[in-house]
Amino acid sequence: MTLSAINSEKIPNNVHLSDDKRLQRALERWQPKFIDWWKGMGPEGFQEKDVYLRTAVSVDREGWAHFDHVRMPEYRWGIFLSEAEPGRKIGFGDNHERDVWQEVPGEHRNALRRLIVTQGDTEPASVEQQRLLGQTCPSLYDLRNLFQVNVEEGRHLWAMVYLLQSYFGRDGREEAEGLLERRSGDVDKPRILTTFNEPIADWLSFFMFTNFTDKDGKYQLLSLAESGFDPLARTARFMLTEEAHHMFVGVTGVERVVRRACEMMKEHDCDDVRPYGGVPLTLIQKYINFWYTSSLDLFGSEKSSNAANYFAAGLKGRAWEMKKHDEHLCLNDYYTMTCVEDGRLTQEDVPLRNAMNELLRDNYIDDNEKSVQKWNREVKKHGFDFEFTLPSKRFHRKVGIYSTHRFNPEGNLIDQEEFNAHHDEWLPNEDDRVYVRSLMKQVTQPGQCANWIAPPNKGINQNPFEYEYVKL
Ligand SMILES: [Fe+2]
Ligand SMILES: [Fe+2]
Repeated sequence: MTLSAINSEKIPNNVHLSDDKRLQRALERWQPKFIDWWKGMGPEGFQEKDVYLRTAVSVDREGWAHFDHVRMPEYRWGIFLSEAEPGRKIGFGDNHERDVWQEVPGEHRNALRRLIVTQGDTEPASVEQQRLLGQTCPSLYDLRNLFQVNVEEGRHLWAMVYLLQSYFGRDGREEAEGLLERRSGDVDKPRILTTFNEPIADWLSFFMFTNFTDKDGKYQLLSLAESGFDPLARTARFMLTEEAHHMFVGVTGVERVVRRACEMMKEHDCDDVRPYGGVPLTLIQKYINFWYTSSLDLFGSEKSSNAANYFAAGLKGRAWEMKKHDEHLCLNDYYTMTCVEDGRLTQEDVPLRNAMNELLRDNYIDDNEKSVQKWNREVKKHGFDFEFTLPSKRFHRKVGIYSTHRFNPEGNLIDQEEFNAHHDEWLPNEDDRVYVRSLMKQVTQPGQCANWIAPPNKGINQNPFEYEYVKL
């Protein structure tokens, strides 16, 4: 299909939507509901403004990053799958080496629907969590990045809705409606996963979220990109290209807050930069502790028969299953897991298939070490010996085998009393949150930046920082 043919369609796509009238009608019926949801629950106060956004118009190198000023409700949300791999086989599990599925196999229908709905639910949830942040943006550049992340999460919702509507019949249509009906943080109809119900009330949280929580998304997508259900694998592969920018926003956002703090520490010869309107490094560490551990929970239980079943069936593989692993059955291997027994830490060998969540979590942890190193390089550059660290994966967990015990950030078992005594040293308390929120004042003059954060090293798509990214 040519670029202009794609652009002339009501719903841009590379899935030959016009050849499937039934599906096309179903999606066209869902589209106005999506736009209503976007106008009601999307970025507040900026719907009529022109924003410099990247739009995917195809999946090839030139087509997927097309930049222009557009109003968000007119954004061209489309359906794009990565190119099919001819002759692709299922890469792992009990169906290893069989042809991939182009239709949903009956026996895996419920499991697949659950995977798709859970992934799909996170996409609109994050838009809802971030809907008020525009009112306190530190610069036009940041405002634009927020909206870019938001519209792409909207597109990821489209991607999941496409799968539901095309492959799951009536249930799929009902699930697609449900994705627009749940609300982040709502008591009666909350989003499915806890982290996606946490409020994101300030930009430090936004940067932590796009670094830590979007990166969880990356690893979920990496494992779905291996799926034997080919349309899901191809959808996840294309989503990963967009996800990279979200994590860039997060990791560089935190880096700029660190840089500004270091500049103030140098200028005023102090550690506590609060009197000068900066965010102290110790406070940044507390935000890391909170958002990192909350995102660890998203991988699910350490020992999981669901995860084992997904792997066995060929629905959800390991990250880089085909690239990084030689043995794809995982029937004879074990994962040595640290567990709690009789009030002390013990080692237990868990059959590898049951430890799939934990393997993916370990990949995620390694990736986060790189972010922390980047922030530490920034501190070093200014000549300070402070070091950010990731707490132990046992610390402050709400899901899984560690959630019923208390640990310090080093991962040692402690009692509730000791945890309470150190709580405010390890995790943001109400005063911290109030302080961070007090810094959030909107800055929208092109080329200007709020005092608590350094400007970025460069702008978007070769444009300077001073560029008018949002026309107000
Ligand atoms: Fe997403
Ligand atoms: Fe994302």
